[in-house]
Amino acid sequence: MDKHFYVTTPIYYVNDVPHIGHAYTTLACDAMARYKRARGYKVFFLTGTDEHGQKVEKAAHAQGETPLELADRVMKRYQSLWEKLNITHDDFIRTSQERHKKGVHHLFKLIQGKGDIYLGEYEDWYCTPCETFWTEKQLMDGSCPDCGRPTDKLKEESYFFRMSKYQDQLLKHIEDHPDFIQPRSRRNEILSFVKEGLRDLSISRTSFSWGIPVPEDEKHVIYVWFDALSNYITALGYPDLEGHYGAFWPVDAHVIGKDILRFHAVYWPTFLLAAGIPLPKKIFAHGWWTVEGQKMSKSLRNVVEPHMLVDKYGVDAIRYFLLREVPFGLDGDFSHAALIHRINSDLANDLGNLLSRTTAMLNKYFDGELPAPGELAEIDRLLQEKFPAAITLIDRQMTEMAFNKTLQTIWELVSAANKYIDESAPWTLAKDASQRTRLGTVMYNLLEGVRLIALLIAPFMPGSAASILTTLGCDGNNVTLDGNDHWGGLQPGTRIAKAEPLFPRIEHE
Ligand code: ME8
Ligand code: MG
Repeated sequence: MDKHFYVTTPIYYVNDVPHIGHAYTTLACDAMARYKRARGYKVFFLTGTDEHGQKVEKAAHAQGETPLELADRVMKRYQSLWEKLNITHDDFIRTSQERHKKGVHHLFKLIQGKGDIYLGEYEDWYCTPCETFWTEKQLMDGSCPDCGRPTDKLKEESYFFRMSKYQDQLLKHIEDHPDFIQPRSRRNEILSFVKEGLRDLSISRTSFSWGIPVPEDEKHVIYVWFDALSNYITALGYPDLEGHYGAFWPVDAHVIGKDILRFHAVYWPTFLLAAGIPLPKKIFAHGWWTVEGQKMSKSLRNVVEPHMLVDKYGVDAIRYFLLREVPFGLDGDFSHAALIHRINSDLANDLGNLLSRTTAMLNKYFDGELPAPGELAEIDRLLQEKFPAAITLIDRQMTEMAFNKTLQTIWELVSAANKYIDESAPWTLAKDASQRTRLGTVMYNLLEGVRLIALLIAPFMPGSAASILTTLGCDGNNVTLDGNDHWGGLQPGTRIAKAEPLFPRIEHE
C-alpha cells in the first residue's frame, strides 16, 4: 500500500499581513512535507487563508473595500511569500471558495441532523480581535484573558453545538492517545481545560454578514472557527469521501501556534466526533516568536517582514535559522544578531568551508575527477559509521517534529567531516607520491559525506542542497532519500567542479 502523509498549516487571517510567525509554521510544514516526500510518501501539504468573520469585515470597511477585495489582496501577499520561501504546498484553500462553503454546509447539516446543533439564545462577553466569547468569570478585569483587550456584552439568537455531550469522549481520546496533542506540556493544559467542563458552543452570529450563511436560516452566519476548521476536510473534497479525502484523512499533523490550540484540540475534535469523522492523528502546537525580546505588533512597528529578510540574507539562511534556533514547541526570540551568528558559524564556517575545502582539494589534487576509494582505515570506518546512525536518528527526530534536533544531528556530521579533514591531512598526503591511493580514499570519503549531508539538509535548505548535489553530479531537484541515503552513491570518475561559496559571511552592522 502507498504511504500517505497529510500535513496542514493554520489558514491565516487576511486582516493582517504575513510576518515571521506565519512563515515559521509554514516552513516547519514544508520541511516535514519535503522530508516525507523524500522518504517515498504521497504527501498532501495544505495551507490557505481564513477570510470570513467580523474582524475581516471591519478591516475591509475601514479601508473602503469589500471583504472579498481585501481577501483577494492579502491572499496574494501570502501566496507570493510562500513562493519566495520555496514552499511546496499542494493546495491553497480560501474559505471564500465554493468548494469550501459546500463542505461546511454539509458538515453543519450533518451535525444538525444528529441533533447536536440547536437554536438558543446567547449572552456573553465577546472579544472581537480574538473572535471568542468569554463568560463573566473568565474575563480578566473585564478584558479578554487572551489578548487583554476590552470585550463587549452580546445577546443574540444563536445556534449552539452540543459540545458538552462530547466531553468524556474527548477526554478518553486524549488519554488513550498520548501523541494526539503535542508537546506534552500543551497536552496537559488541554486535559485540565476539558476536565473543568465543556459548555455548549455558540456556532452562529447574527451581528454581521461576512461569512457562510447557516443553511435555511440566512440571517445567521456560521461562526468563523466552525467555518475555518472545516478547511482541513473541505480542501480534501469533503463531503466527497473518495479521492483526496479517502487517501489522506485522518490528517497526520495539524501544525499550529500555541495561540490556537484550544480550537484545534477541543472544538475541532468534538465537531468531528459529532459528525462521526475520525480524529486527527496529531496536533502539534509550536511556541511563540518575539522580536528582540518584544511581542510583535503593528503598533510597536517591530513586525519582522519575511520578504525583507529573504532579500537580505537569502531564503535558505532564513529557513535554517527559524527551524534551528528554537526547539519546536518552545518560545523563541528573533534577533538580527542571533541570525547573523548562525549564518556565519553554522552555514559559512561549518558547512560552507566543508564544501569549498573539499571541492578545492579535489580539483587541486585530482583535477576535479573523483578517484575510487582504496582500502579503508579505522578513521574512515569511524566516519562512515556515523552516517547510518545519524540517518536513523533523524528519521525519529523528524517524526517527532524535532526540527532543531534534526539539524543538530546533521551538523554533527558536518563537524565530523571537518574533523576528518584535519586528522587525515590531505595536504600532507599530497606531498608523498606513495600516498596517492590513500589520498584518493580520503577525497572519496569526504565528497561522499558531503553528498549525504546535502541530501539530509534538502528538506530545510532545498536550494543549497540542489546546488551542492548538482556540483557533485547528482540530481538536486528531485531529492529522494530511500535508496540514495546509503554510503557509496557517488561514482568514481565523476567530474566535480570547485564549489562557489554558498553562504558568504555577513559583517555585523
Ligand atoms: O489564528 N510566533 O490565523 P492567524 C509564532 N485564522 N507563530 C505565530 C506568531 C508568532 N509570533 N504569530 C502568528 C488564525 N503565528 C486563524 C487560524 S486555522 C483553522 C484558523 C502563526 O493569521 C501561528 O501558526 O492569526 C499561529 O497559530 C498562526 O500564525 C495564527 O495565524
Ligand atoms: Mg492571530
